Amino acid sequence: MIGDNRPIGVFDSGIGGLTVVKELMEYLPNEEIIYLGDTARVPYGTKSKETVTRFAFECADFLMSKEVKMLVIACNTISASSLDEIEAKFPIPVQGVIIPGARAAVRATKTKRIGIIGTERTISSGAYIDAIRALDNEIEIFPKACPLFVPLAEEGWLDIEVTYLTAIEYLAPFKLKGIDTLVLACTHYPLLKGVIQRVVGRRITLIDSADETAKTVAETLKKMKLERMSDTLPSHHFYVTDNPNKFMQVGERFLNKEIRNIEEIDITNI
Ligand code: DGL
Repeated sequence: MIGDNRPIGVFDSGIGGLTVVKELMEYLPNEEIIYLGDTARVPYGTKSKETVTRFAFECADFLMSKEVKMLVIACNTISASSLDEIEAKFPIPVQGVIIPGARAAVRATKTKRIGIIGTERTISSGAYIDAIRALDNEIEIFPKACPLFVPLAEEGWLDIEVTYLTAIEYLAPFKLKGIDTLVLACTHYPLLKGVIQRVVGRRITLIDSADETAKTVAETLKKMKLERMSDTLPSHHFYVTDNPNKFMQVGERFLNKEIRNIEEIDITNI
């Protein structure tokens, strides 16, 4: 049988990419995953394109040294800043989160008015706007950076007053824009879905790029005959660049599962 038993390499600026891992485990329960979270240097969302790209190459080089068959950039900020450069450098399939999210948003909108929320870097890159317009150039897009959602999600403040008030501050202006679809263009935002939905109202469809990305990875593996064919259960490995204990505590909330096999590494000398 044709297949490929090497692991999938997933990377992110830190813990947030586990929302993508969660969906990958759902859609591809037989695949082995190697995850790298650059917890020493998170957040990337406030940094320049050049810095994000340099860090992203170090992450990708580390995963390549583990002989992965595909790279999944779970981080919206990296996907928005550095996807093309990473695709050009590595000889294996590379999947970012922007195009799957954009595709799902275009499918969902009826009013052709879409809101996008993400980190400052993702929003200022214009990557989602380009991806959506490439699919339908009549769509009006309303982007907004919501940086405080990242620490709120990491703190586990998912449904309390301070999160609700922050969400009102960021999202209330969308009510006047007539959008019917809102893209959660950041790894952390799916955790705040409940609060976000409450603030924008039930009529607005929330798009979770993690879910769409996992579906796209599954399609790519199938199309390229790269699916894992082994009957043994996959064992996943998690690498971080700092503070594995915190990664485990917060990460289990993101993944909704126990995390084992966490190792701290230095990726600046690969
Ligand atoms: N992972 C980042 C993203 O999806 C959020 C955290 C950060 O700023 O690094 O954009």
